[in-house]
Amino acid sequence: MSAGAVAGAIAGATAGAAAAAAGARVKAEATTAKREAVLRVYRGDASGGQEVEYQVPVETGMVVLDAIHWIQAHQAPDLAVRWNCKAAKCGSCSAEVNGKPALMCKSRMERFAPGEPIVVRPMKTFPIIRDLVTDVSWNFEVNQRIPPFQPRAGAEWKWQQHDVDRAQEFRKCIECFLCQDVCHVLRSHELKHQFAGPRFLVRIAGLEMHPIDGVDRTPFLKDSAGIGFCNITKCCTEVCPEDIHITDNAIIPLKERVVDRFYDPVQMVWRAITGK
Ligand code: SF4
Ligand code: SF4
Ligand code: FES
Repeated sequence: MSAGAVAGAIAGATAGAAAAAAGARVKAEATTAKREAVLRVYRGDASGGQEVEYQVPVETGMVVLDAIHWIQAHQAPDLAVRWNCKAAKCGSCSAEVNGKPALMCKSRMERFAPGEPIVVRPMKTFPIIRDLVTDVSWNFEVNQRIPPFQPRAGAEWKWQQHDVDRAQEFRKCIECFLCQDVCHVLRSHELKHQFAGPRFLVRIAGLEMHPIDGVDRTPFLKDSAGIGFCNITKCCTEVCPEDIHITDNAIIPLKERVVDRFYDPVQMVWRAITGK
């Protein structure tokens, strides 16, 4: 076979393969486009409400937030939903999808079996404003009570990479408040007046473990943040979209500090003797 004939054969095979791939893609897209999902979305406000059913066409790569937007665009323009980035980074689109606290923009539609109803409700722990939007302002009030970062006098503004990494994990928080929503101390026992919740224990851990911070927040943890109410169920860790090890890396070390300071008899005797 001449060089020209070989080149022609390769070009022909490549074109044939591309056409086949394009055909398969069109077929797959056509099949997916035919799929419909059933969404049951909570509609209501503080005075009450109910789940309303919507049929939504499913397309490849869709997330639950896309389905909510489709409903807004085609069937219910007054459906209230809070969102911003659609990239799992702003923490605005928190809701409960099939009973589990989740970011709607991170909940892929293909995760649900065909025909499986997808129930979308607002976060239960916070007062509802309307439909999927809740009032999360209590969280900002808690945040304001936390003693802020204060460098130690004369501290060197230079520290080890492993110290940076430890504090950095806590700085990944996007304030979605899904951990606050799932925590039974806030959700079922409604102890908002006594317990700051996992999100703010994460923030305090980030400050307490900062290598040059000089503030002592241990009494605050015990008395104002109510860390003793946490019984390490780890539900908060399971729902965190940033994969922060809330219980293991933040809450448990903070609990240890409180126990050492206020409940360890050996340390108490030592402090009484030395005054330190
Ligand atoms: S581990 Fe503690 S803070 Fe996290 S959900 Fe359980 S009780 Fe709440
Ligand atoms: S710790 Fe995780 S779940 Fe909690 S608010 Fe931050 S990002 Fe959300
Ligand atoms: S829209 Fe920003 S986290 Fe979902």
